[in-house]
Amino acid sequence: MPNIVIVGTQWGDEGKGKMVDLLSEHADVIVRFQGGNNAGHTLVVKGEQIILHLIPSGILHPKKLCIIGNGVVVDPGILIEEIDGLRDKGYFKDEDSLKVSEEANVIMPYHKSLDVLKDKARKKGKIGTTGRGIGPAYEDKASRSGIRMGDLKDPKRLKERLSLVVEEKNFYIKNYLGADPIDQKEMFEYLISCSEKISKHITNTSLLLDKKIKEGASVMFEGAQGALLDVDHGTFPFVTSSHTVAGAAATGSGIGPTVIDGVYGITKAYTTRVGSGPFPTELDDETGDHLQRRGAEFGATTGRKRRCGWYDAVAMAHSVRLNGLSGLIITKLDVLSGMDTLKICVGYKIDGEVREDFPSDIPSLDRVEPVYIELPGWAEDIDKVRSFDKLPKNARDYIGKIEEILGVPAAIVSVGPDREDTITIKNPFEE
Ligand code: GDP
Ligand code: IMO
Ligand code: MG
Repeated sequence: MPNIVIVGTQWGDEGKGKMVDLLSEHADVIVRFQGGNNAGHTLVVKGEQIILHLIPSGILHPKKLCIIGNGVVVDPGILIEEIDGLRDKGYFKDEDSLKVSEEANVIMPYHKSLDVLKDKARKKGKIGTTGRGIGPAYEDKASRSGIRMGDLKDPKRLKERLSLVVEEKNFYIKNYLGADPIDQKEMFEYLISCSEKISKHITNTSLLLDKKIKEGASVMFEGAQGALLDVDHGTFPFVTSSHTVAGAAATGSGIGPTVIDGVYGITKAYTTRVGSGPFPTELDDETGDHLQRRGAEFGATTGRKRRCGWYDAVAMAHSVRLNGLSGLIITKLDVLSGMDTLKICVGYKIDGEVREDFPSDIPSLDRVEPVYIELPGWAEDIDKVRSFDKLPKNARDYIGKIEEILGVPAAIVSVGPDREDTITIKNPFEE
């Protein structure tokens, strides 16, 4: 059975949660490999909405193994909250269905304060982070000053690590930020209290995953954020602090890239973005407001209004290349019903020159005049449609145009938030 990576191709919130939940039926193991609880993945099952921030979106399916891989940064308090929330709703009945990597770095309470303080200090250059401590936790991982989930299982080692780390952090907090220093004892007690609840889940997930794959299990790797938020390939510095592209599935879960059989990119039928940063096809007008309202575009983590705009095939071509996409999963097509004309951006005019490639000179994105093609819209509601050929002709043509420009076939089209509201053209798990 194939091992498939599912990634966001735009600026996040493409509908990864819905798709991973839907496709979990075909997988045995579901792995988150990067990001943290900056993600907000929405699942809707028979009208009931569940938002997951950290636990893989396969968790609603009994008998599946969900893994939080080494590439994720884990806020232990959020993990406990999420487990309890799922239990209250009647899910997560089997403790063994969730494993967390010993190598995953911990988001500490001070990472959250630092995230907020640092973004505030950026003034006009504010990134508009989610304030969940993601950047500072990855900074500490890269500078080797992080606490790892495995440390929580050994109080003596945890104490030693904390004394080293807290001394360094307090120097920075006092001298640079002028904020209150960390109380080491308080921090230790907090982590031990978390550990009592979650240490049973913490293990060597690379080894476990390898064993499962050798036994013939089918694995789905669940990306968070989207390619345009990738720390190298996105709209730097207005990005998150991890690699969000498909290549990260290997490093972030401790498997070799040769076990991956396919990469499917989730792409919203238009474009949205939360937080600051360039957005060439943004619509600062009634059409943008219409997409925001009809698409109910509010951040699933912070509740902020999402900025909306036309489908950007230039940015998407960048994403197709970076992810090596095997197929597209196009979501929220239903939101476009009732619009007379639809636009797709096929070129960027920058300083008088039209180009089809996404520039790596990110500041130049502020000067983009998008070059659009126009396609006729369709009037019909499509949320009850379950087969591709029953879609209105103009909706089929819209998808066909996206496939043609990007050179990647559509495997699934989503026409509503519920699991059921889905048109499958080719199941990614069927070879
Ligand atoms: P994720 O971060 O990629 O998992 O996406 P989010 O959950 O943050 O945002 C996607 C939003 O769109 C959620 O509210 C979903 O319930 C909703 N959604 C997903 N697919 C569709 C769809 O095809 N149509 C509509 N109308 N809503 C959808
Ligand atoms: P999912 O997985 C949309 C954005 C933030 C901010 C930037 C950096 O639900 O698609 P961070 O807190 O990561 O340092 O913030 O990245 N961002 C997201 N936008 N969806 C997400 O996740 C996001 N995770 C982070 O809004 O602009
Ligand atoms: Mg989201």
